Amino acid sequence: MQPYRIAIFASGSGSNFQAIVDQVQKGKLDVSIELLVCDRPKAYVVERAKEAKVPMFVFSPKEYESREAYEALILKELVERQVDLIVMAGYMRIITDVLVGPYFGRMINIHPSLLPSFPGVRAIEQAVEYGVKQTGVTVHFVDGGLDSGPIIAQRAVEIHEHETAESLAERIHAAEHVLLPQVIRWLREDRVSLDGRRVGVRL
Ligand code: GAR
Repeated sequence: MQPYRIAIFASGSGSNFQAIVDQVQKGKLDVSIELLVCDRPKAYVVERAKEAKVPMFVFSPKEYESREAYEALILKELVERQVDLIVMAGYMRIITDVLVGPYFGRMINIHPSLLPSFPGVRAIEQAVEYGVKQTGVTVHFVDGGLDSGPIIAQRAVEIHEHETAESLAERIHAAEHVLLPQVIRWLREDRVSLDGRRVGVRL
């Protein structure tokens, strides 16, 4: 099979980044992690990337005059490295047409709720506060809106009676660490088709 090159975008702890690295290192996911893109130089994901010897593009958004300005630099990195797929794994920024244009259909995001419920930040806390009995995780294509692109896969997670955001977050993260590598594998194996908002997966 041809090499399949991915870039991972993350802003925080990077447990999803780590889940992908682990699957690659165990030989369970046949992709090459070409780049970590991170908008917070102090984020723990930067340490994880160093440890895994993944090249990085780390930047501070406030040093640029616009989103488009730093995204143009990111795009240059992605094109130079012939990146096939962008994986947003806890990247807490809206993406503009600079990236959505060239990468629509080749850019995915993981979100900690059953979209379209609870988009944006604090999805786990909001599900607990609202009192829903089930929430979950979603992997979707990125379309430039807020967690709004076509949905590829979802997994439900029960909310227990005395649940806290912390206890729920643990089970949400465990579900994410399985689902995100799984969807990357499907894309790598060309099993995913897109027709408007509807996504088909050949299992
Ligand atoms: C994950 O739970 C991911 O779903 C969420 O950020 C967390 C990152 O965790 N993303 C969003 O809320 C996007 N709207 P991690 O840094 O440990 O992978």
